[in-house]
Amino acid sequence: MKCEDEMKVLVVETKLWIVDKNVDNIQSYPQIIEAAHLLAKNEVVAFPTETVYGLGANARSEEAVKKVFEAKGRPNDNPLIVHIASQSQLEEIVMDIPPIAKQLMDAFWPGPLTLILKQKPGTLAAAVTAGLDTVAVRMPDHAVARQLIEASGLPIAAPSANTSGKPSPTLAKHVQDDLYGRIAGIVDGGPTGVGVESTVLDCTEDIPIILRPGGVTKEQLETIIGPVKEDRAFVKKDEAPKAPGMKYTHYAPKAPLILVKGENAFIQQLINERRAEGMKVGLLAASEHQALYEADYIVAPGSLAELSTVASGLYDALRQFDDVHVDIIYSEVFPEAGIGQAIMNRLCKAAGQQMIEQ
Ligand code: TXA
Ligand code: MG
Repeated sequence: MKCEDEMKVLVVETKLWIVDKNVDNIQSYPQIIEAAHLLAKNEVVAFPTETVYGLGANARSEEAVKKVFEAKGRPNDNPLIVHIASQSQLEEIVMDIPPIAKQLMDAFWPGPLTLILKQKPGTLAAAVTAGLDTVAVRMPDHAVARQLIEASGLPIAAPSANTSGKPSPTLAKHVQDDLYGRIAGIVDGGPTGVGVESTVLDCTEDIPIILRPGGVTKEQLETIIGPVKEDRAFVKKDEAPKAPGMKYTHYAPKAPLILVKGENAFIQQLINERRAEGMKVGLLAASEHQALYEADYIVAPGSLAELSTVASGLYDALRQFDDVHVDIIYSEVFPEAGIGQAIMNRLCKAAGQQMIEQ
């Protein structure tokens, strides 16, 4: 049996709960309670957040956290983010909260910002932090996520709910495609929203450092606390990143993805060359440009005029190419300002840094 087939063997029954994130959901509540019970029994359950779906586990239980790593096929040296729903849960797990971190929490929590803080020893399963003395924490801005955390009464460790290396899930269907039969349940709260993961900010240094660009932009952080640094590894590609997870190839569709910085006609010429060689060619382009191209499969995740739409549609777009079995994918590049920094960071990773410039 090939490794990929092995990953697909059904090992557990996966429950599916459909809940409504928009109403203050009395109807959804029994389903959320059932999911919370499974978390309390150290089972793993996927749930929506405002960024991407997370694969949740009791962060105090080694047994539960081990199931997360196994279901995803995630390397053990890559620590998880702990999701909380209240200030008191934060105080349980971190040593002290630097004033700068407090200001950021006031400004951006609940929301797509993960803070790295000094961990209070012995409060979490060791596997959550992969042996580091710091812990990544965030409070998600999603009613279903927060109700689930509250109902479980636990800090919930949750990486993105995808098979390791694949694009993160922004729909419950993506979680099912990757993890059905491998996890105890999926809470389906519809599409996630932001679409790229949270910004990871190391607050253990005097000047905080962005380890992973994400839903809260550098510009937004700086309006609250002044200058922040960026981990050189995600700016300059050949250095070792400080967030262990950032060193792995990620977000990658099955076919090779190549970014192209150039005019529409140049990109069309590359497409034509590959098609002349008999290849089935996919293209990821801004919606404004979609009609300018001819390729075998074109996906426009969103609009240049509103880059947040590109972020929310990006992972679904990358996953669509797997469904249509293209041989190669070209992608336009997007401006790196604001949320564009996270978009380009993920696209560069998905492309394994392959870029053609005109
Ligand atoms: O939006 C998100 O952040 C989503 C949702 C589910 O909340 N979660 C997510 O988790 O993206 P994950 O596991 O896919 O990414 C967590 C990132 C990894 O790059 C990991 O290495 C880094 O955070 N990280 C976690 N703990 C860390 C620590 N103590 N020090 C440095 N980096 C850490
Ligand atoms: Mg992930």
